[in-house]
Amino acid sequence: MPPIYAKITGVGKYLPDYILTNKELETMVDTNDEWITSRTGISERRILKGEGRGTSYMASRAAKAALEDADVDPDEIDAIIVATVTPDYLFPATACLVQKQIGADKAYAFDLSAACSGFLFALTTGGTMIESGRAKKVLVIGADKMSSILDYSDRTTCILFGDAGAAVLLEATDEKVGIIDYIHYTDGDEDRMLYQPAGGSVMPATEQTVEQKLHFLRQEGRSVFKRATEGMADVSLEIMEKNNLAPDDVSWLVPHQANLRIIDATARRMGLDKEKVMINISKYGNTTSATIPLCLADWNDELSEGDNLVLSAFGGGLTWGSIFLKWGK
Ligand code: UT7
Repeated sequence: MPPIYAKITGVGKYLPDYILTNKELETMVDTNDEWITSRTGISERRILKGEGRGTSYMASRAAKAALEDADVDPDEIDAIIVATVTPDYLFPATACLVQKQIGADKAYAFDLSAACSGFLFALTTGGTMIESGRAKKVLVIGADKMSSILDYSDRTTCILFGDAGAAVLLEATDEKVGIIDYIHYTDGDEDRMLYQPAGGSVMPATEQTVEQKLHFLRQEGRSVFKRATEGMADVSLEIMEKNNLAPDDVSWLVPHQANLRIIDATARRMGLDKEKVMINISKYGNTTSATIPLCLADWNDELSEGDNLVLSAFGGGLTWGSIFLKWGK
């Protein structure tokens, strides 16, 4: 049997309407536009407003857009994977809510949690399901309502993140396009460098956990910055070397958008010019699982058949990795 490959045939995004600018943040915490833009590259981010709206609201809209882009009906979908750290509920999985909201009646659905590397890990999971021959069409969604776990009185974290959802449809093909190779890593020793202390089974919600603000994201910014800069640059170079890709062979770097300085360092290490790097952090901030598919959606019209893409991310866990993907919609 010839090998089966998993290619992206549709991309879609959902961005909430509300724009939280650096100027507005200046009225909320002791910060300023100059500090935020020069240290992170972020000018504004989107916030999902409206009672009863969670991550599935954004994920299902992004999924519908990806299906439209691919011209595929929801009832053709075999499986749905939602990468998120801000699920609507701890259970059922947000992917189950998406399955209902988009009417993908025949799909089985589950969530995957790997923080900012979530979309990468979900994409290779969906890809492997297709390569095995068990599934033909898999929706892979990255969506996070980061505003639901941020402390808007903590200037070191609240300025960094935004809300969004973005999705891709993976389909089986016998051409050698789509996911060609990947490298993923985890370092569980550093579980406290970036995490949400309470709300899980170790520390269920109590009056005290709420009072002590333990349900908000905590990050050792400088340590994560150092690890992320090394990790993303190293793994991006590693996937290039493993696949004999010279800088000229790489059409696009699709990096996780956590900090412009981390993206620049990764591109430099890979020997890539800035024009080959997808950067939209200025408009959306760090949307965790959504950053990479959001880039693919924003650059959808500029991508050409045969383009070599390197997708790279680093996040809590710690988790990080790269995917070498040949565009072939
Ligand atoms: O996506 C998951 C992975 N996450 C990341 O990759 C994030 C990695 N970390 C970072 O991007 C950066 O570490 C931050 C953007 C979070 C912080 O930038 P930094 O250049 O590492 O700043 P710092 O933490 O070293 O702080 C420098 C100064 C401190 O003041 P002092 O101690 O020098 O007086 C901070 O208190 O900047 C201060 N500061 C701020 N000032 C104005 C921290 N946050 C702010 C703020 N506005 N929002």
